[in-house]
Amino acid sequence: MQESTPAQQAEALRAEINEHNHRYYVLDAPVVSDAAYDKLMNSLIALEQAHPELITPESPTQRVGAQPVSALGSIRHAVPMRSLGNAFEEEDVQAFSKRVFDTLYGAGLARAEDQVQYMAELKFDGLAVSLRYEDGKLVQAATRGDGQTGEDITSNIRTLRSVPLKLKGDYPQVLEVRGEVLMNRRDFEKLNQAQQERGDKVFVNPRNAAAGSLRQLDPRITAKRPLRFYAYGWGEIRKVHDGQLEVFRQESGSPDMPRKTHAQMLDWLQALGLPVSDTRKLVCGAEGLLEYYRHIGETRSTLPFDIDGVVYKVDSLQAQEVLGYVARAPRFAVAHKFPAQEETTRLLSIEVQVGRTGAITPVARLEPVFVGGVTVTNATLHNEDEIRRKDVRVGDTVVVRRAGDVIPEVLAPVLDLRPPGTSLFVMPTECPVCGSAIERPEDEAVSRCTGGLFCAAQRKQSLSHAAGRKALDIDGLGEKLVEQLVDSGRVKSLADLFTLTSDELAAYERMGRKSADNLVAALDKARTPDLGRLLYALGIRHVGETTARDLALHFGSVEAVMAADEAALLQVHDVGMVVAASILNFFGEPHNREVITQLVEAGVHASAPEQASGSDLPLAGKTLVLTGTMPNWTRDEATRHILAAGGKVSGSVSRKTAYVVAGEEAGSKLTKAAELGVAVLDEDGLKALLGVG
Ligand code: IVH
Repeated sequence: MQESTPAQQAEALRAEINEHNHRYYVLDAPVVSDAAYDKLMNSLIALEQAHPELITPESPTQRVGAQPVSALGSIRHAVPMRSLGNAFEEEDVQAFSKRVFDTLYGAGLARAEDQVQYMAELKFDGLAVSLRYEDGKLVQAATRGDGQTGEDITSNIRTLRSVPLKLKGDYPQVLEVRGEVLMNRRDFEKLNQAQQERGDKVFVNPRNAAAGSLRQLDPRITAKRPLRFYAYGWGEIRKVHDGQLEVFRQESGSPDMPRKTHAQMLDWLQALGLPVSDTRKLVCGAEGLLEYYRHIGETRSTLPFDIDGVVYKVDSLQAQEVLGYVARAPRFAVAHKFPAQEETTRLLSIEVQVGRTGAITPVARLEPVFVGGVTVTNATLHNEDEIRRKDVRVGDTVVVRRAGDVIPEVLAPVLDLRPPGTSLFVMPTECPVCGSAIERPEDEAVSRCTGGLFCAAQRKQSLSHAAGRKALDIDGLGEKLVEQLVDSGRVKSLADLFTLTSDELAAYERMGRKSADNLVAALDKARTPDLGRLLYALGIRHVGETTARDLALHFGSVEAVMAADEAALLQVHDVGMVVAASILNFFGEPHNREVITQLVEAGVHASAPEQASGSDLPLAGKTLVLTGTMPNWTRDEATRHILAAGGKVSGSVSRKTAYVVAGEEAGSKLTKAAELGVAVLDEDGLKALLGVG
């Protein structure tokens, strides 16, 4: 093999590193581990240290090169950065489609309204930026500012690994790329966690975190923030065409440009190495736009980042040109916004609620506010530390967030609007329901009522939990009835429920004979639950549905779970020290053992999970291990299918494991499988094995 020169080595390493960045950020399909990436990077750093003359500004080692500045400079945009008009209702979209069609029809560019093509995109909830590439090299980056002039954030943008320092392929002499800088929700949570641990400022939402990170005076700080970039448009483009310098601006779309549609432009940006979100779609007419809106609205929570709506753009560049601009917004595009998930309102008081396990949650009583599609009057403040950390006070105007079905929460006070005389929250020392002491174990964020099942609040919630759909599924045992049953002293434990008679029940408020009979029938049905459901119904701390099912699979009876010691419990899939301790603690409590005895006396008998047998079953005698998240099946569903096919599911990989089924973010089990040479399947592979589609 021929010896390569240091210059060639550096070039090869750079190409490889850039390719991995591109795979990670643009294609979303990394092929190497972080460690392997770091190794390449370290080799390049070492090589450049030995040969400083080889360093170029586009080298991936030079992302964090610049010195801190005392203020960000300003940059005038070659082509102004516009904003978008908003649509909120379906009618607004229909009106937009009609306006577009009328103009295009008049210009002979459209024949029917439902045939006008649009590019439908996500409306990223981040910060608009403009990146300027000259001769393929990133030379400048600016915020939107007032649309004419923005702030110079070149050094900061260079630290974003999703932004190429050098374009690939057929780039023009000048290219201004417009897009959004944002932070993924998961990265945001991690950042806030770290900020909090260090005692640094925490951010209200990913958008603010992105803004704060991007406008740093010291690029070394930006470099540590997990920012991402998505391109959605362009500003100035100049290229030599037939030996002539050609200036191409959005307003003056040159008909000679090789690309005639927005879709083609985005594909081109992607081909140049820029990240463009795949969640974009060419659609036709108002119906197509609204279908995209509804689809994105439904799947919004599965996106890794926040969006605040979708954007529709007429696809044909010629049509865009004809439609033109009004004031600062294009007539060819519109933002269709989702109902806001964050609003501000006044915090009237802070009360505490006692949860099923005694956890005390401070709850904000709010002036009613319409947010996330509903009117919100209460929002959680999580715990005492959170209130301190956010510095939320009674009387404050606060930012409230409600996303999807998630419980509304108070994010932060609006300090500029703080009136005089606000008061701090003080955690009560006694439970407002039962008067027992409230204690907060050291190292824990949560305060708890120590009353246990003596506390009516805890008793009520334990009963409601046990009656829930995922537990014993007792139809007709609503919150109001539970309240009455507990307050009257008739029901003290789960077992007492099963001794209720129809006559008794009929005497309670809002209970007729019929509902009483129905409830007794529902209770009867609940006497023979799956073991997993019964274990879940007991409400053992840290034992969720899945763990309960795993325990049921492993032990086969309540008695066996009760008899298990720590070592036995740790054998169970996903049961660690904390869960094991909690189970031991629960069954160590004489009162809880008593309830189990009473349940048996009341005729409650759980059935062990079925495992199919028969040597002709596809997985007979085989043990599988599940790890990571599968795209379609939950772990439970996969388990059920495996059991039905005669297989077993285990929590740990050994030489006896027939297959490891690995989903996304599979961890050490996958490594172990590789070490032991155990076959690895994905969800499709498992389905093929089971013979199901
Ligand atoms: S196009 C000429 N596309 O929304 C039109 N904007 O008010 C320029 N935004 O500040 C904007 N996602 O930061 C466009 N897919 C998208 C977008 C998008 C988010 C933001 C952008 C701008 C604001 C428009």
